[in-house]
Amino acid sequence: MKGKKIILGISGGIAAYKSAALARELVRRGADVRVVMTPMARQFITPLTMATLTKNPIAVDFFDPENGQWNSHVSLGLWADALVIAPATANTLAKMACGIADNLLLTTYLSARCPVFAAPSMDLDMYAHPAAQQNIATLVGRGVRMIEPESGELASGLVGKGRMAEPETIADALHDFWACRDSKLRGRTVMITAGPTYEKIDPVRFIGNYSSGKMGFAIAEELAARGAAVKLIAGPVKLRARHANIQTISVESAEMMYNACVETFPMCDGAVMSAAVADFRPETAAGSKIKRVGNTLSLNLVPTRDIASQMGRMKRDDQFLVGFALETDNEQANAQHKLESKNLDFVVLNSLNDAGAGFMTDTNKITIINRNGETTEYSLKSKAEVAADIADQIELLS
Ligand code: CTP
Repeated sequence: MKGKKIILGISGGIAAYKSAALARELVRRGADVRVVMTPMARQFITPLTMATLTKNPIAVDFFDPENGQWNSHVSLGLWADALVIAPATANTLAKMACGIADNLLLTTYLSARCPVFAAPSMDLDMYAHPAAQQNIATLVGRGVRMIEPESGELASGLVGKGRMAEPETIADALHDFWACRDSKLRGRTVMITAGPTYEKIDPVRFIGNYSSGKMGFAIAEELAARGAAVKLIAGPVKLRARHANIQTISVESAEMMYNACVETFPMCDGAVMSAAVADFRPETAAGSKIKRVGNTLSLNLVPTRDIASQMGRMKRDDQFLVGFALETDNEQANAQHKLESKNLDFVVLNSLNDAGAGFMTDTNKITIINRNGETTEYSLKSKAEVAADIADQIELLS
């Protein structure tokens, strides 16, 4: 969203208080945000709040009464890469559908040539009313992208569908729109492994690792945002995928992950192996809880199957395969070895020696090594940004 010019249109509904959080989120993601408010919206949130958050003046009236300056809805409409109306009240949606032009937000809408998004917000019965639904259908038919309201407690105290989508959801919808538009991943199917695996010792204990799954889930969200259908094979994690394009297949052990991958990979255009798969598992899992007897306990461990290597053997010419290498020493040489031995197209190296990289953090610092021997080093970034860098490299493969 970096550098995108967004008009945030606010109409007069109680959800206008959430527009402040939305403006902040859009600015945080690098957008240049200009706010247009209806006169009624001013009753719910002040122009000063919005101006402070966006660092831009706010337009409410056709003229500035102080100096007579003209707020040109036409130039605003031409300036923007997107117009987002949030909240979009029943009244504003109805006026948009009819082409009524009695405030600056509506004239801006009518003269905008950019994509338009609307996040409806109203009471459940208003939202369900055939008039409101027909207006929404008319606008959708004209290309307005509706960001569905959520169900929950409404300002009236009633419970139902009509609550404006959360600011993060609205910002994600915009992100997805731009990410998907030019992506080669649109319509492709990608398998991703994520998280740790648990190898059973007895009914109450396992061998696991500190992987949170955050990196794999971030890659899944990014590829889904670019229009790919994602099959996310996840070990035990506390995360939930948000995007509708992601199908999560939950597994526990390396063996279960192996079986899911062998079944899923043939129907995919490629795979990203980001799971921290256990390399060893207890030879046998005890059927009942192991008791505390004696001073030592020996577990006989046997190797698990290397899933990435198996995918490398199964890989067809029309498929890509990306792997990770988490290293503590001899990083480059070890990563290079994994690239070749697992038949990967590129390997994403993270070194546990870099602060902020690896398990459980929200950040990562990666180096990508490809089959042509090219090495790209990236700076420390959020896992969402790292996922975008990895997705960019995948797009170069296809
Ligand atoms: N991997 C896998 N199945 C395994 C082990 C690893 O699919 N049983 C994948 C990981 O998801 C990653 C890549 O192989 O994409 C490298 O994982 P890593 O743990 O760094 O390397 P290993 O191959 O396990 O080698 P080592 O532990 O000796 O460094």
